[in-house]
Amino acid sequence: MRDNYALDAELYDIVYADYQDDLEFYVQEATAVGGPCLELGCGSGRVLLPVARAGVKVTGLDVSKPMLARARRKVAALPDDLRANVTLGEGDMRSFKLDEQFALVYIPFRAFLHLMQVPDQITTLGNIHRHLRPGGRLALNFFDPSLEYIVAHSGPIGGALHTTGETFVDPRTEHLLVEWATIHYTEHLQRIDQYFVYDEVDQRGRVVGRLYRNLQLRYIFRWEFEHLLARCGFELVALYGTFDRQPFMQAGQELIWLAQKRGN
Ligand SMILES: C[S@@+](CC[C@H](N)C(=O)[O-])C[C@H]1O[C@@H](n2cnc3c(N)ncnc32)[C@H](O)[C@@H]1O
Repeated sequence: MRDNYALDAELYDIVYADYQDDLEFYVQEATAVGGPCLELGCGSGRVLLPVARAGVKVTGLDVSKPMLARARRKVAALPDDLRANVTLGEGDMRSFKLDEQFALVYIPFRAFLHLMQVPDQITTLGNIHRHLRPGGRLALNFFDPSLEYIVAHSGPIGGALHTTGETFVDPRTEHLLVEWATIHYTEHLQRIDQYFVYDEVDQRGRVVGRLYRNLQLRYIFRWEFEHLLARCGFELVALYGTFDRQPFMQAGQELIWLAQKRGN
């Protein structure tokens, strides 16, 4: 599997430094079960750190070495008692094997969409099932695919490079990063290929560099995932459309899933 995050894990932290919409939700889920919790695709620890700071025992797995290296540095800065609760490791959500069963497995920020084939999705859900205690919970979120957006971005013109309106300051240089993006949907594969380009602009307004980040995702429709959950031994507990737990009510909201392990 290619590492979408190898190019610049540091850039990931710059771009998502202020993104906090989901933190309270995942911390609440983790504290409700009290641990032990497992985060799949923990990345650089954006969600894992707040869960650990809440005093919950948590294990984080990721396939990306650079992302894990950043998570390790952040965990190292935690007070001793909290740090002792955290385990980090390299692991693919499809194939990891741990000698532990968890009360909660969670997959924030759409990481499940990195599974590009249906067999990957089924293998992952089966693997999660095996690593959950009886009655254990699964929490994850991803976007509800917008048909309008897919149609607009399926042809050659749809993929045109455009500014996203987002800018960031690179703390390493104080340079401005101006974000551009190109996105292309391949409908029959439910595949998204996305490139982000960051123009690095110095204090005198000169473009002094360009950074690239690319992503491949497989989008999933609402009912498709309900069937996947049922097929893989999960019972749906709730489907929210917002992180403050309003029910999923309209197309285009986030799909925020809470499910429970059925049987063993
Ligand atoms: C969008 S980031 C989310 C990181 C972190 N959970 C957060 O919320 O900021 C997705 C993460 O999933 C990881 N990932 C992708 N495919 C994976 C797989 N098959 N198994 C484990 N991690 C994977 C990526 O390396 C990346 O760190």
